[in-house]
Amino acid sequence: MQTIDDLDVAGRRVLVRVDFNVPLDDAGDGTRRITDDGRIRAALPTIESLRSRGARVILVAHLGRPQGEAKPELSLAPAAARLSELLGAPVAFATDVIGDSAKTVVAALGDGDVALLENVRYDARETSKDAAERGALAAELASLADLFVSEGFGVVHREQASVTDVARLLPHAAGRLVLAEVEVFRKVLGDPDRPYAVVLGGSKVSDKLGVIENLLSSVDRLLVGGGMCFTFLAAQGKNVGSSLLEADQIETVKGLIATAEARGVELVLPVDVIVATAFAADADHKDVSVDDIEDGWMGLDIGPNSSALFAERLADAKTVVWNGPMGVFEMAPYAEGTRALADAITRVDGLTVVGGGDSAAAVRLLGIDESGFSHISTGGGASLEFLEGRTLPGIAVLED
Ligand code: 3PG
Repeated sequence: MQTIDDLDVAGRRVLVRVDFNVPLDDAGDGTRRITDDGRIRAALPTIESLRSRGARVILVAHLGRPQGEAKPELSLAPAAARLSELLGAPVAFATDVIGDSAKTVVAALGDGDVALLENVRYDARETSKDAAERGALAAELASLADLFVSEGFGVVHREQASVTDVARLLPHAAGRLVLAEVEVFRKVLGDPDRPYAVVLGGSKVSDKLGVIENLLSSVDRLLVGGGMCFTFLAAQGKNVGSSLLEADQIETVKGLIATAEARGVELVLPVDVIVATAFAADADHKDVSVDDIEDGWMGLDIGPNSSALFAERLADAKTVVWNGPMGVFEMAPYAEGTRALADAITRVDGLTVVGGGDSAAAVRLLGIDESGFSHISTGGGASLEFLEGRTLPGIAVLED
């Protein structure tokens, strides 16, 4: 895989695919406000390096899933403004993807300047299943530039025009973020220092079946919390009350539990949970043993005894991968399990990796010191597919 250091970028137009798919809310004055700029900050080293070497940087990104429609609430204009603040330099914003605005903005770039194109998914061809349609958009994007850099790790699991097709049309390289992410995931997949522990959470076990199946051949310990733990508890014959339960996955989970046992993988489940009468921050809630969940109560977080158990099973680990929150961390009464887990991981003396998506958002929302982790991935689906052992098309194309 070529890196940006292998490219001669001075005076050249460099199209950089970034993942600026960031969460936004309404600022109250009719504009949209970015609530977590982690993915924008993660692209800065590559953008800074290209700028300092005299490249004309053209950023292409998506926001949400507008399905080929120019939805104003999914405009990347707030990302251009935030990037400009972070760089301390102007960022020209093209109000279309490959139309007059994009061409004018790109033509006006000087060496070291930066531009961001409007949401590439405003063009339906970006996500088309038809390779010829994607190829046509890719050709138009490629005509704006001389070189291509892949820096959107969060989208490398997508076969999309600005991710894979354009890389086939221009000399290309991986950006610093993509390179760092790939190195970390290859290390944990191929040659982890042991004990190797993986902590999985989040709501649905069905989203993580592929990951669990793949990990059961390599991990020493698998810790399961979050909404998905209730399907494991139900598979062990426990009553889970009104907790999230995927009844159709119980048999599959029984199979996973048996596989873990047969392979000598230690499966660690919560021993107590915070249950509440409703999915609400102000609902009645209490800590109960997993053997005492009553009907009418739903588990919304792991309890303190579970947190202590998880911390103890991580303490001597040399590699820890964490994907998925332990509870509904957005509501204060159910945030402690996720906070305690994050704190425990920061105390581990080894390689610690936070899978992207909700777990990375939780780290930032709960104000946990990001420097306590070896690596916080920017990829949600991409990091999961990596852990499933799948070939990611956006990486494969860089290795051609
Ligand atoms: C993400 O948020 O995981 C990436 O930006 C990919 O977005 P997508 O799932 O809409 O392709």
